[in-house]
Amino acid sequence: MQKKTIRDIEVAGKRVLVRVDFNVPLDTNTGAISDDSRIRASLPTINYLVAHKARIILCSHLGRPGGRVVEELRIGPVAEHLSYLIGLPVNTVRDCVGPEVENKVKALKEGDILFLENLRFHPEEEANDTYFARELARLADIYVNDAFGTAHRAHASTVGVAKYLPAVAGFLMETELAVMGKLLSAPEHPFACVIGGAKVSDKIGLVQNMLKKVDILLVGGGMAATFLKAQGHETGHSPVEEDKLNLAKKLLKEAEEWEVPLLLPIDAVIADEIKAGASTQVVPIAQIPPGTYITDIGPQTIELFSNELRKCHTIIWNGPMGIYEIPQYAQGTRAVASLLANVNSTTIIGGGSSAEIVQEMRLTDKMTHVSTGGGASLRLLEGIALPGVGALLDKSE
Ligand code: 3PG
Ligand code: MG
Repeated sequence: MQKKTIRDIEVAGKRVLVRVDFNVPLDTNTGAISDDSRIRASLPTINYLVAHKARIILCSHLGRPGGRVVEELRIGPVAEHLSYLIGLPVNTVRDCVGPEVENKVKALKEGDILFLENLRFHPEEEANDTYFARELARLADIYVNDAFGTAHRAHASTVGVAKYLPAVAGFLMETELAVMGKLLSAPEHPFACVIGGAKVSDKIGLVQNMLKKVDILLVGGGMAATFLKAQGHETGHSPVEEDKLNLAKKLLKEAEEWEVPLLLPIDAVIADEIKAGASTQVVPIAQIPPGTYITDIGPQTIELFSNELRKCHTIIWNGPMGIYEIPQYAQGTRAVASLLANVNSTTIIGGGSSAEIVQEMRLTDKMTHVSTGGGASLRLLEGIALPGVGALLDKSE
């Protein structure tokens, strides 16, 4: 369903409440923003509203303060960074609802920007409390949701508030939905999905839904161990979800039924310990010694996966191939990222850790699309509708 956007509504002179997802990673030592991709991704929406003379009220969550004020999670530094990026003042206020906020909103002139305090300082935000949603709504004439990364959460600022105001999508939301929509409904074939990450249990819905769409599925990462064990392989000390072995068998069978090749690693990097500096070895999958850990896919798997991916016109990637946080075990993940950056096909990176790696390797511009939403894009790939999107006006309304 196509959603109305800020292009479809008159914003000049109006008070516009814009929900963004500026839940950016903060350096654990300094508190500095370590990746500002999410802020940059919403600049087109903010710049449009400034250029069209809206009175802009921005709101976001930051981290998981759990419904109380956490000083380190105040929105100030984020607002300051936004101000730096757009070259305009961005004012802040010490709450997100209440009289002080209302006074500051009243004082907004056309093109002015006010950034509300972290929404999650109030427990009512995550509870999608009606009264709180109405307090947010009374600040504005129009509601814009540009927070794709939070669209899988039914919170007051993503769902509740949309009941009380004309609710439209921002440009980031529009782009994310268009890319994912095309991917799921009309991808150019051959279409491949590369899946990784720690647990099979996190990716069941993804595997099941993607089997109906793709021509090939490539599985790496910690979750591969559960599949390998289900096939009868020795997996050493690698974490295996014992209670998911039958499920892994079922997924392998479903892949057969859909006639979709589901490729697992054929070799692996193994180590005696999961820590930097441990001595490692590359072994074929059939020869993993008991007592060792699988830490990454091996070079032959990289080659196998690369050959398959080179044949594809559309590739979606979700999840690392190994324990990429330790550089020694990041080669498989980095190889997939590099390959995707260099093929002439549509390459889409699910949010979360895959996006983080691509950003860190400075390959973002070489991908067709890097999603700003890990959980949200995963839900879409599972075939699940996002509540934050459902709450917006349809194009036809
Ligand atoms: C995210 O980073 O996943 C989104 O901002 C949503 O945050 P949450 O997972 O804490 O709800
Ligand atoms: Mg999350």
